[in-house]
Amino acid sequence: MSLQRMLKLHYVLVLVLCVSASEDFDWTKNERGSFYYGTFPTGFSWGAGGSAYQTEGAWDKDGKGMSIWDVFAHKKGKIFLNDTADHSCEGYYKFKDDITLMKDMKFNHYRFSISWPRIFPNGIKADHINEKGIKYYDDLINMLLDNNITPIVTLYHWDLPQVLQEKYGGWQNVSMVNYFNDFANLCFERFGDRVKYWVTFNNPWSSAVEGYETGEHAPGLKLRGTGAYKAAHHIIKAHAKVWHTYDTQWRSKQKGLVGISLLADWGEPVDITNQRDIEAAERYVQFYMGWFATPIFNGDYPQVMKDYIGRKSAQQGLGTSRLPVFSSQEKSYIKGTCDFLGIGHFTTRYITQKNYPSGRGNSYFTDRDLVELVDPRWPDPGSEWLYSVPWGFRRLLNFVKTQYGNPMIYVTENGVSEKVQRCTDLCDDWRMQYFKDYINEMLKALKDGVNVKGYTAWSLLDKFEWDEGFSERFGLFYVDFLNKNKPRYPKASVQYYKRIISSNGFPNQREVESWKRKATETCSSSNQLLAADPLTSHMEMVTEIVVPTVCTLCILLAAVFLMFLLRGRF
Ligand code: NOJ
Repeated sequence: MSLQRMLKLHYVLVLVLCVSASEDFDWTKNERGSFYYGTFPTGFSWGAGGSAYQTEGAWDKDGKGMSIWDVFAHKKGKIFLNDTADHSCEGYYKFKDDITLMKDMKFNHYRFSISWPRIFPNGIKADHINEKGIKYYDDLINMLLDNNITPIVTLYHWDLPQVLQEKYGGWQNVSMVNYFNDFANLCFERFGDRVKYWVTFNNPWSSAVEGYETGEHAPGLKLRGTGAYKAAHHIIKAHAKVWHTYDTQWRSKQKGLVGISLLADWGEPVDITNQRDIEAAERYVQFYMGWFATPIFNGDYPQVMKDYIGRKSAQQGLGTSRLPVFSSQEKSYIKGTCDFLGIGHFTTRYITQKNYPSGRGNSYFTDRDLVELVDPRWPDPGSEWLYSVPWGFRRLLNFVKTQYGNPMIYVTENGVSEKVQRCTDLCDDWRMQYFKDYINEMLKALKDGVNVKGYTAWSLLDKFEWDEGFSERFGLFYVDFLNKNKPRYPKASVQYYKRIISSNGFPNQREVESWKRKATETCSSSNQLLAADPLTSHMEMVTEIVVPTVCTLCILLAAVFLMFLLRGRF
């Protein structure tokens, strides 16, 4: 996520009064700040994740087609330092090494995404199926299963085939529904005997808002006030269609589950005694997660979105709302199309009411009539937008429970980044703290009765962070992108997370308090290894290039010398 998004936080305030005021919220009473020692239910699933464009590299190899991200990242000025994910972590070639890392951490699952243009290079099944792409995912899935790691597979993590963008306008066009369904159907056919957890879309909010409204993400369109709503409308329809395809054609044979992964920050009212702030905070969450979750669980867009966008459209003199409408058949077709809900959560905002007069310049953001605020005391170690506010996680999970009938939840993304510094430090103290506190809030939510089944740390590796390029590192493992072999180095949080996994939670104070110290002991030796990396890669270059060249030259010289000798003799 970008700096622009951060700048949308119009004010940064010291919210001392508000922090203490919000202590009254029911399910967090008496508990905010206090640590809960306890463990997760047996069978709780632990893992980490990544996505195709962010990690695979091999952008033009083995018959892969271009995605909108390949094209967008190659345009100058779109990505920080004009980085691209052409090579990124080279996950396409190094997945076996990565599975070894996961095995060592005793992961129960790994979340990754399938690149649509790696399977259908031109986006369309009738055009061409790329068997080499299929083989890559087959090998990845098989090796995960051989190591007892369950694959959780996302079908769309933002990498639409470029051809579909050029020919049809991408998600602005309803024809994507059928094209995406064809792609999903092929994945079910070819991988569904082994994959039992499918995520149709990852964080469609970003695809819609950043792809078609602000233009910070691929395909980079700035269709303010309409683009995001239209894209989201088609994405929701596509999700429902794919769920029905699985339900009618594959479920009885394959016995898997199909869900969607929604990203949501929590929105807390600035003043919990002020009704307008309470409503503004509710609106924030409804315009974020509710936009997608409400149609899928309850059959239609949140009433508050229909009211606000409808009213503003009328004030603009438009005959119809900028928010598209589902027909009654569509509503019943979409309702109930979620076997589990994936939640991506990173941070929280304070929210207060603010009226934006309608007129020219309407956008998704002004439609909400609110302002986002942050408390400057919240830790903010990495990405500008990511403040560590663990209690927001518990509130969000409880919100999901009450709003959508306590669905089965998998946390599909949660983690924190660091900005690239000149001296890399693998002793990521703040990440250990973040995981400790956020996972603890998830445990509290479980005790509140929220149906959370698994947790996915974001992310396994440092990787391409969209418009921020490689400048923000979310990985448990540090990746040296300057070295062509892209070596991985464990950060201290690897050890920490490993202990959470092996204890299935936080057994007792004495033990948990020793974890950080133990993790920090090992990271200093990793730091030394990393510091020696330029030397190691130099030596590797010597062995890979200089040694063979010198040897070949020696052999040639010896041959010439021998020829001379032999000539003299005869
Ligand atoms: C959500 C996106 O799904 C993921 O790809 C990204 O790395 C994280 N946000 C962090 O920005």
